[in-house]
Amino acid sequence: MEKLRATSSLRRSLKSILNRQLSSISEIRYLNGKRSCQPTFSLIRDYKSLGEANAIRYRCFSSVSTVVQRNPSFSTLNSDDISYFKRLLGEKSVIQDEDRLETVNTDWMRKYKGSSKLLLQPRSTEEVAQILKYCNSRCLAVVPQGGNTGLVGGSVPVFDEVVVNLGSMNNIISFDKVSGILVCEAGCILENLISFLDNQGFIMPLDLGAKGSCQIGGNVSTNAGGLRLVRYGSLHGNVLGLEAVLANGDVLDMLGTLRKDNTGYDLKHLFIGSEGSLGIVTKVSILTPPKLSSVNIAFLACRDYSSCQKLLMEAKRKLGELLSAFEFLDIQAMDLVLNHLDGVRNPLPASMHNFYVLIETTGSDESYDREKLEAFLLSSMEGGLISDGVLAQDINQASSFWRIREGVPEALMKAGAVYKYDLSLPVEKMYDLVDDMRTRLGDLARVIGYGHLGDGNLHLNVSALQYDDKILEQIEPYVYEWTSKHRGSISAEHGLGLMKANKIYYSKSPETVKTMGSIKKLLDPNGILNPYKVLPHSLDS
Ligand code: FAD
Ligand code: MLT
Ligand code: ZN
Repeated sequence: MEKLRATSSLRRSLKSILNRQLSSISEIRYLNGKRSCQPTFSLIRDYKSLGEANAIRYRCFSSVSTVVQRNPSFSTLNSDDISYFKRLLGEKSVIQDEDRLETVNTDWMRKYKGSSKLLLQPRSTEEVAQILKYCNSRCLAVVPQGGNTGLVGGSVPVFDEVVVNLGSMNNIISFDKVSGILVCEAGCILENLISFLDNQGFIMPLDLGAKGSCQIGGNVSTNAGGLRLVRYGSLHGNVLGLEAVLANGDVLDMLGTLRKDNTGYDLKHLFIGSEGSLGIVTKVSILTPPKLSSVNIAFLACRDYSSCQKLLMEAKRKLGELLSAFEFLDIQAMDLVLNHLDGVRNPLPASMHNFYVLIETTGSDESYDREKLEAFLLSSMEGGLISDGVLAQDINQASSFWRIREGVPEALMKAGAVYKYDLSLPVEKMYDLVDDMRTRLGDLARVIGYGHLGDGNLHLNVSALQYDDKILEQIEPYVYEWTSKHRGSISAEHGLGLMKANKIYYSKSPETVKTMGSIKKLLDPNGILNPYKVLPHSLDS
């Protein structure tokens, strides 16, 4: 009886909010979003030099035993190198200023720090080619860098590698309104592309919280997933072509704009997700979907994880082609956001719920879309899958719902030390890992679960006041073993970088890794491109 009463009052409240329809949510997210992802706070550095110039022990974000040795075959920069680069690029694009080097040597999380003495900012593919040709001949190691928002230590040097930042290559080359194909340089910031396309009546098939800083070249190189993958698929599907420069300076022109092209091996896929270890991506051609007029965002509460999972199944079945995002966060993630981000409030304040789900639909027929969403929400509520919910009624409200979900990484940073894991797992098992970790860690640290539920992608984060080996020992290798046992992936979307280079065997067979090593050797025989990252260090010897 109690339950029935509760259900019918929820039904009434949902019905009333369903009447308030949002029609142009897309404008805030795709056009005016000026959210910067750069934190203004600082986090304890958790790298620690052992005092030896050639070895660095990374204590707190990887297995305790991880020690990286500088590859002795790499040269060190000399004044002739600097003179060469100044002649090639001009004084302004050859940066040795300490403050600017500090920025490019340190990652977004302030966990990884290199000691590069040189930042190069090429403005053309030809300049990138000349830089790499020279570095290869001198055996100078190079780190390709985009917006430096990567979360696995891939975008910053480990030792004194030369940083090649693509930020000055930021031109849109062409846009074809008929096909929706955008061709641009790799250094274009994702948010700028989103704004450009919005004016043309299109959207990027990719969206993520770091959009204000990350570059399309970085997105392609990490095969970034993000908030729209559930609808538009991965960059392996959306990137139609690219241009990349190999370690020896050869330019591979694979900048096709065709949907279909089966002439031999499709080499562009090697550069999508290889994290700068095979070449520098200089241009990208990408298929963009038209912007549709009707966007709805619902922020819902669920009693337990099983309800979130069932809600996902129902959403796929009942919303079908309309579904454009299905994100979740647990109460611990919500708590962090409410405590650490200014101006964020819980849209379902009556009581705290164990889980929150953000559902976005995008379609072209307002009344049809609304009817479908209403029917889905009402039946989910009647079925007990949703315990409370609200539909955004204006652009500000929609933005505030997204702020909660997109704000979790920033809130985690503000809370102190964070151990980040980005896992692909069967949806039905996913949250068991979060529960297990809570049991293992007890009072040592807080365990937070959120992510792209629609894609089977869990972001498992462990938050503590400071980094502590006792915490790490409870997490690793347990998390990796657990993931491997369930045939998941230890990197769903962030990549391997430095953090997980030596963990690759948890997700890939020895034969596969060996083949990757052969490809690396073929394309970059001196190993100058992003050394110590992606592939296990054992392959270097
Ligand atoms: P960087 O961080 O500069 O580099 C990342 C890697 O790519 C490095 O290995 C680098 O060497 C290489 N690289 C960069 N540019 C090039 C190039 N032109 N050619 C060759 N190699 C290159 N990731 C997701 O997948 N989904 C998310 O939802 C998501 N959300 C995020 C939210 C926040 C707040 C933050 C801080 C990060 C998030 N990320 C997410 C991670 C990160 O933003 C992505 O990996 C992004 O694609 C990195 O782009 P970037 O330009 O910053 O690349
Ligand atoms: C996200 O989905 O918010 C990003 O991948 C960043 C993170 O995992 O913290
Ligand atoms: Zn993510």
